[in-house]
Amino acid sequence: MLTDDYLKELWFKFFTKHGFKKIDGYSIIPENDPTVLFTTAGMHPLVPYLLGEPHPSGNRICDVQRCIRTNDIDSVGDDWHLTCFEMLGNWFLGDCPKEEMIKLSFEFLTSDEYLGLKKENLATTVFAGDETAPRDEVAFDTWKKCGIKDVFFFDKECNWWALGGGVGPCGPDSEMFLDTGKPKCSENCSPACDCGKYVEIWNDVFMQYNVKNMGEKAEKLERPNIDTGMGLERTIAILNNAKSVYDTGCLKDVIDFISKYAEKGYKEDEKSTRYYRIITDHIRSAVFILGDARGVTPSNVGQGYILRRFIRRAINCARFINLDCKYFSDIADLYVDKYGKYYYDISSKRDFIKEELAKEIEKFSKALEEGHKEFEKVINGIEKHKLYAKEGEIVENKISGKSAFRLYDTFGFPFELTKELAEERGYSVDQKEFEERFKEHQEKSRQASVGQFKGGLADSSKQSAYLHTATHLLLAGLQKKYGFDVKQRGSNITPERLRFDFNLDHKMSKEELDEIENFVNDAIAKSIPVICEIMTLEEAKNSGAEGIFASKYGQEVKVYTIGEISKEICGGPHADNTSDLHHFKIIKEESSSSGIRRIKAILD
Ligand code: ALA
Repeated sequence: MLTDDYLKELWFKFFTKHGFKKIDGYSIIPENDPTVLFTTAGMHPLVPYLLGEPHPSGNRICDVQRCIRTNDIDSVGDDWHLTCFEMLGNWFLGDCPKEEMIKLSFEFLTSDEYLGLKKENLATTVFAGDETAPRDEVAFDTWKKCGIKDVFFFDKECNWWALGGGVGPCGPDSEMFLDTGKPKCSENCSPACDCGKYVEIWNDVFMQYNVKNMGEKAEKLERPNIDTGMGLERTIAILNNAKSVYDTGCLKDVIDFISKYAEKGYKEDEKSTRYYRIITDHIRSAVFILGDARGVTPSNVGQGYILRRFIRRAINCARFINLDCKYFSDIADLYVDKYGKYYYDISSKRDFIKEELAKEIEKFSKALEEGHKEFEKVINGIEKHKLYAKEGEIVENKISGKSAFRLYDTFGFPFELTKELAEERGYSVDQKEFEERFKEHQEKSRQASVGQFKGGLADSSKQSAYLHTATHLLLAGLQKKYGFDVKQRGSNITPERLRFDFNLDHKMSKEELDEIENFVNDAIAKSIPVICEIMTLEEAKNSGAEGIFASKYGQEVKVYTIGEISKEICGGPHADNTSDLHHFKIIKEESSSSGIRRIKAILD
């Protein structure tokens, strides 16, 4: 059996041999990106570099990136969906040698030293062309030259890759599929249909375009790139001919572990299978989030809310298969043992992960008790309504979205739990109404990204870069005034303003705010150059740079220095000189959460 560890080993062996530098995967919490809560693809933390910022490790890199995608959360429990996965990736930055990449892909897939797949069992797809980009004859010809018989042309729907939301670097792609040998489902059977004959294993994206703002046209990038991604769990399952992602590797180990302690068996019925899988997936997501250097904990906003939802949903599933939640701690250990090797922060946070899981289990069991009582009241209310219904009035067995949201909001009862309990009682829930109420809540949470060290700016406009520099000066000012225990706890930058969260135990007075503002404006007036240096993490630490040292030593990082004032590990980009910032103005100071203050500021 080809294991996930071995596939990673092969990946790095292959790409380093071809001149790609291995870098550590990034945090699972994106920084300075107001659009998403989690890293969703290998390229996501690399956006600034795909937009032209030089990467400290050069212009050919490869990594394995932990990712979280919650858009398919309702499908988790089937054979293929996960909220958390690892993505193998390699990149050409500022360069788009399409033929070379396709040949590399072909070699990795077919060479006996690597995956050893038969070329007859592979199919690929390429972009058919439209008003944005031409038909990809180069990709087509290259695959044909390699000896791939089935190369399909498809339109944007299938062969164009962009981040969710459609903003950012993007481009036509070429996807690689394994032909499982199943018979064609129809005459038109192709990798575009989901009959299961063709399963995707890898995607080469020719990232030659960029969409600056939602809804705008894609513009050609001056410096195009190649971004590739191979979903690790799926690929392993497919290469091993497994029936689901849960039949291989660490996920299988966790399923086996649960089987030992749950009263219901894994395949006892369809529902049990699903509950087992949800626990396996969600606890892994929780371990990845809790084990991130940025220190997210369960809460009712932002990443903390999603984390809470993962843990609570897992608890709920455990209830249905009679698994004692105390075993979550052992499951966490299995994951830490496994992933700590690749993600240093996970191994260093083992105790924290287990403590936070235990705390949330405790909190939720209290909420559950209360929530169950409330749930019963809702059901009783409907039953009563039925009894006293007017002639001809039909009272549906349906819980309103309003009640479901109240159960969630006031009693911490997740929607899924309401739905599942309702189903047990022959009731449905008004999901649409719930979602409307929930949307508002989510909007708030989207703005609550928590972070501690800087990745890079998702938006490469000059104005954002200047605000980014202002953020460094602001932190320096706060540390000068309140001491070095004050740390960044979140940063969110748009071209119009910066928003900066930091720990401080009191509301700042007008005088304190003036003092900080003056500090930043003094630095601006001094016209100090902003210097970027590349060094190893260890060197950065020894130089006293601000940042969290969550990665393995030896990893190269960028350090931005502003005179004697500021030194931070950061992805950039920044202003060249503080004078570019012109004038700094704080427009708001408020509480962000307990012990955390938030400053909003502009440059005018
Ligand atoms: N960014 C591409 C993907 O995630 C490679 O599929």
